[in-house]
Amino acid sequence: MPVPPRLGSIRIKAARFGSEARRKGEPMQDKYLDAVVLTRRTLTERITEFLIGAADGQALSLAEAGSHIELRFGGAGDRFLRHYSLIGPLTAGTVREPFWRIAVRREDRARGSHFIHRHLLPGTRLRVSRPINAFRLARRQPHTLLVAGGIGITPILAMARSLVTRQQAFSLLYVGVEKAQMAYVEELATMCGPSLTVAETSRQGVPDLKAVLAAQPADTTAYVCGPSGMIEDLIKAGAALNWVPERIRFEIFNTAHRPEDQPFEVRLKDGRIVRVGAGTTILDALEGAGVDTYADCRRGECGLCTTAVLSCDGALDHRDRICSGEDRAHQMTICCSRITGHLLNLDL
Ligand code: FES
Repeated sequence: MPVPPRLGSIRIKAARFGSEARRKGEPMQDKYLDAVVLTRRTLTERITEFLIGAADGQALSLAEAGSHIELRFGGAGDRFLRHYSLIGPLTAGTVREPFWRIAVRREDRARGSHFIHRHLLPGTRLRVSRPINAFRLARRQPHTLLVAGGIGITPILAMARSLVTRQQAFSLLYVGVEKAQMAYVEELATMCGPSLTVAETSRQGVPDLKAVLAAQPADTTAYVCGPSGMIEDLIKAGAALNWVPERIRFEIFNTAHRPEDQPFEVRLKDGRIVRVGAGTTILDALEGAGVDTYADCRRGECGLCTTAVLSCDGALDHRDRICSGEDRAHQMTICCSRITGHLLNLDL
């Protein structure tokens, strides 16, 4: 089944980049670095912070606010691949850290986060990508609204630090069940002062996001990271207030993994069958089986991994932000989407 022209051209560019480098005999830049866990620290009952350094002891590069890294871990074959935002220093100013700071929330039935909490100890080796920024903070805005839900605070904290350091006007709404379960509340209070509002849903209920947007100065741009329902609500609130869509920028975590996920199998055109476990993605499973694939964002935002579906014995469960309309019937982003049945035949 043909891939739509836009996606087709992206795939062709990616393929060309690889083949041209090979033709010229240039080494392909390795996307991953050898890294090591330097320290870990418990932030809440479910959230643990990790400082990650280069295995050779060199300082790691600075990352822009909003950047994330891919972490490969899980023993031989690096059986897990997950994305984590880079938090950076916990105070404003020009402090430079030669390591990368991430925070990982242990999710129920999410094997990757359980593995991290259990097995990533100081000295553990892993592979990390260079920083990728798909959630870039604009340098100059009249006013910025930052909204974080739960562990979505990680990129938002980096943005808040950037705005404080550059003395830009902003406000930050940080939503969680209760403070005891929310990471970095004290650091944010010190860093942001009156610009920070902490909303505990167990005490105050879910904040009225439409009222929050309506209270912002004109020309505010909002950045939101958290559960997909919260992001959808903010987008809807913005639409109701006639905000143009570009004024609400978002980052979604864990769209690929849900507690109710079940394993299934993927059949390739050559007849090979690849099992996709409940805690992994089709893309990760195919890569683990040595299948050639294309991917970039790995979270349903870029479209590079879009693959035609030949058949499926259940329903396609689309979890990306780009596949829409008729496309949803015959193609899927394999980095995050799944099926509800047992067998998926892909045009691969
Ligand atoms: S890799 Fe970007 S949408 Fe799948």
